[in-house]
Amino acid sequence: MCSFLTKLILKNIFLMKQVFIQTIGCQMNVCDTDRMIALLAPLGYTGAAAPEEADLVIVNTCTIREKAAHKAYSFLGRLAGRKKRKPDLLIAMGGCLAQQEGKKAFRRAPYLDLVFGTRALDRLPDHIDALSRERTRIVDIGMGGQGTAGAPPPLDAVPASGGVSRFVTIMRGCENFCTYCVVPHVRGKEESRRPGDVLAEVRNLVAAGAREITLLGQNVNSYGIKENFPSFARLLEQVASVEGLDRVRFTTSHPKDLSPALMRAFRDIPEICPHIHLPVQSGSNAVLKRMNRGYSRECYLEKIRSLREIHPGITLTTDIIVGFPGETGADFAKTLDLVRTAGYAGLFAFKYSDRELAPAARFSGKVPEAEKDARLAELFRLQESITIRRHERMRGRRVEVLVDGCGRGRKDPLTGAAIPQYAGRTGGNLIVNFSDPATDWTGRLVTVEITGVHAHSLSGSRPEAV
Ligand code: SAH
Ligand code: SF4
Ligand code: F3S
Repeated sequence: MCSFLTKLILKNIFLMKQVFIQTIGCQMNVCDTDRMIALLAPLGYTGAAAPEEADLVIVNTCTIREKAAHKAYSFLGRLAGRKKRKPDLLIAMGGCLAQQEGKKAFRRAPYLDLVFGTRALDRLPDHIDALSRERTRIVDIGMGGQGTAGAPPPLDAVPASGGVSRFVTIMRGCENFCTYCVVPHVRGKEESRRPGDVLAEVRNLVAAGAREITLLGQNVNSYGIKENFPSFARLLEQVASVEGLDRVRFTTSHPKDLSPALMRAFRDIPEICPHIHLPVQSGSNAVLKRMNRGYSRECYLEKIRSLREIHPGITLTTDIIVGFPGETGADFAKTLDLVRTAGYAGLFAFKYSDRELAPAARFSGKVPEAEKDARLAELFRLQESITIRRHERMRGRRVEVLVDGCGRGRKDPLTGAAIPQYAGRTGGNLIVNFSDPATDWTGRLVTVEITGVHAHSLSGSRPEAV
């Protein structure tokens, strides 16, 4: 009651307002949400713990698959009643689905006040300001303005509470035009941020407590090519040399552009984690061709062979789409075969989903939903057996883990109190859980011995600090 009153008084005296942002989609959106929070702070907005407490609710959307789009509209649907009870509540939709939908979004969610696309991010404060003065509807899906990559980040506004593992967007957009993919259509042309801006943001995050940075782009291997910046491998060197930073990761690498210089970076720069996410999408050359991926299965397998030659301990993960239009049983068998050969540590697999803006939506040979389900299940079964086998080899090994989370684990049999359960990742990006009743390991780099093996994670002993 007391804290409620204090909040109410503070709110009225300082005109403080609260914003709740629901983030759907990839890490790029997680980054964009951080930026929205930073941009709204000068207008007096602080973060709300739940939509019920907020004066402004934003849903930062994704449209990579039908399911993601559906998720955004069902979240918005739940706000309809709230708006009736609190008419001055502002509701906004940002991100990739907003970019795709534009004013069509008002038809499905008439209580929306603002629809802002991927390149309208930096204009968000102007729109919120305008809406607080005059109630109207605003749509901004212009692709011309500043966005994630355009402007330098507001350096003094980086949230200090973000934890040890943080993302930094180094480029926006994509021009690869894989035929199934909506991203080039909703995120626009590829543009890289200046190396100086990237480094300034990394230094700032490290000063705020980050020890691991993941550099983000749809295709990081083509970083700075258009702009004539030093190469991505050079950027990695510079980021890795930031004082106080222990680990550097990056995602996503497009296999067609994975260069020998980047492969060597894994060997030559100790801060680069020995893990690469290298989406293959399919093991069939016919399907890869129709997907417009720009490489063959042989070329992909050759690249991972070179990677392992340069850095034998590297772990690999991938993305796979099952049921792409025209994918036959024989094509799918080639995907299974590639998965067996590649020896992935894990994979993300998705059922192909038609996206209106992407050309594959108009391809013939659509695969029935039940067949897609069966292929997906078979793929997951195969990968699970591979993962377990690979995990078994880890038993008894001592690994370095950066602890990024803590929850309440099983109960102490003597005291009945919950023992804190920690979670972290190895350099190779494997999840390791361990418990320790005595020490708080959150945010620390520790060494643990692997004692247990599961399908999606490992468990470890009580740690030692590195
Ligand atoms: N730029 C990254 C991927 C971004 S999207 C890359 O090129 O790897 C993440 C993943 O979603 C893709 O790798 C792909 O596997 C999947 N995906 C994209 N469009 C899809 C669609 N229409 N249906 C199903 N999965 C899709
Ligand atoms: Fe989509 Fe292909 Fe670009 Fe990745 S590289 S974002 S899959 S078009
Ligand atoms: Fe990411 Fe989804 Fe957009 S995957 S780039 S938020 S369509």
